[in-house]
Amino acid sequence: MARRTVVTMPGDGIGKVVLPGSLRVLEAVGFEADYVEAGIGWEHWVNQGNPLPERTVELLAEHKVALFGAITSKPKDRAAAELAPALRDKGYTYFSPIVGLRQRFNLDICVRPCITFPGNPLNFVRRGRHGELEEPRVDAVIFRQNTEGLYCGLEWTNPPDVVYQALASHSKFATFKDVPRADLAVSTRLVTRAAARRIAEEAFAYAAKHSYRNVTVCEKPNVLRETSGMMVAEARKVHEKFPGIELWDTNIDAQMMWLTKNPEDYGVLVAENMFGDIISDGFAGLVGGLGFAASANIGRDVGVFEPTHGSAPKYAQLDPPIVNPIAMILSAAMMLDWLGEVEKADRVRAAVAAVVAEGKVRTYDMLKVRGGPQAISQGAASTTAMVDAIIAKL
Ligand code: NAI
Ligand code: MG
Repeated sequence: MARRTVVTMPGDGIGKVVLPGSLRVLEAVGFEADYVEAGIGWEHWVNQGNPLPERTVELLAEHKVALFGAITSKPKDRAAAELAPALRDKGYTYFSPIVGLRQRFNLDICVRPCITFPGNPLNFVRRGRHGELEEPRVDAVIFRQNTEGLYCGLEWTNPPDVVYQALASHSKFATFKDVPRADLAVSTRLVTRAAARRIAEEAFAYAAKHSYRNVTVCEKPNVLRETSGMMVAEARKVHEKFPGIELWDTNIDAQMMWLTKNPEDYGVLVAENMFGDIISDGFAGLVGGLGFAASANIGRDVGVFEPTHGSAPKYAQLDPPIVNPIAMILSAAMMLDWLGEVEKADRVRAAVAAVVAEGKVRTYDMLKVRGGPQAISQGAASTTAMVDAIIAKL
């Protein structure tokens, strides 16, 4: 096979710290590739009025596979205020470049595995029937629809005439009819049948391939009758082709409550964009939190692999860096899976598991000490020390 070129997008803050660490692990496991770095994030917004430079889009279009660190996003007013003076009032508006990438390349399938590493001091623990402590083994993989739903970007404050009239034509609008238009904010939850179908198909195919016994659609069809209704309906149709797997459906709110009751019962979960965002963070919290939460954004021919965490600006400047690189490293392992290098991916995961189980090298989050420059003197491993330990296991 031709040598791969992987686009690397470190982005902002700790993205610049964890992404290079993951490249060292990839090299150590024997993954051979060329890397081309592409810009993304806040400094591109500030200096060019575009956090997702066209060159980055072109590189991804060419090479199809990328590792992404994290970006910094800020609310509307802060984004406008930080724009370079020469670019102000020229009509630039900030948008999240990772959401932009998902939409440009139709990266509609987001996969977020939340799997317990035995020995991780951050694992969820509960009391059993007789008061004993139990540490359930969580092995849940969330399939989040990544391009539509409530994050599809169709939103307005003070909606234009056509939108306002369309809303006003709905019988439920009666309650809002006297609200001044400038005081109305609308975000649209849009679901297409094709996308609802595809996320369900991918979820079931994954469950079948990896021997999961159930797929749970986590929505709210009793209230969101149209959009959640369509997600559930399409999942039921897809289920017909997978009789060996159970299809469950849960409401997002109840699911969050059940997280701490019986998380070990769930296998693959499917949800719309925002609900998928919520349940994946919920499950991630049971298996170590942001330092462990990996993800893949997958389209028909492009894959972008990133930790779930953001740029953690308060830790970005620390020297040595203290953040946990495991989420990024597990994301790189997902890239290996996607590229067909499953054996190497498994070795990376086994090396992480071995370091966690051994418990000698732990970043500040795993030690449960406060983040900051003092963490190292309190026994926390630096980011580099954690990467070194994982490489040593390889
Ligand atoms: P964050 O994920 O950057 O950090 C929240 C907290 O989680 C940190 O302060 C730290 O305590 C902990 N944390 C995060 N990553 C960690 C790691 N690898 N190891 C140990 N601890 C870790 O979220 P926050 O503070 O809400 O957002 C910061 C910036 O990141 C914002 O500008 C936000 O918009 C952006 N963001 C970007 C994302 C992305 O690039 N996909 C996702 C989430 C937030
Ligand atoms: Mg999130």
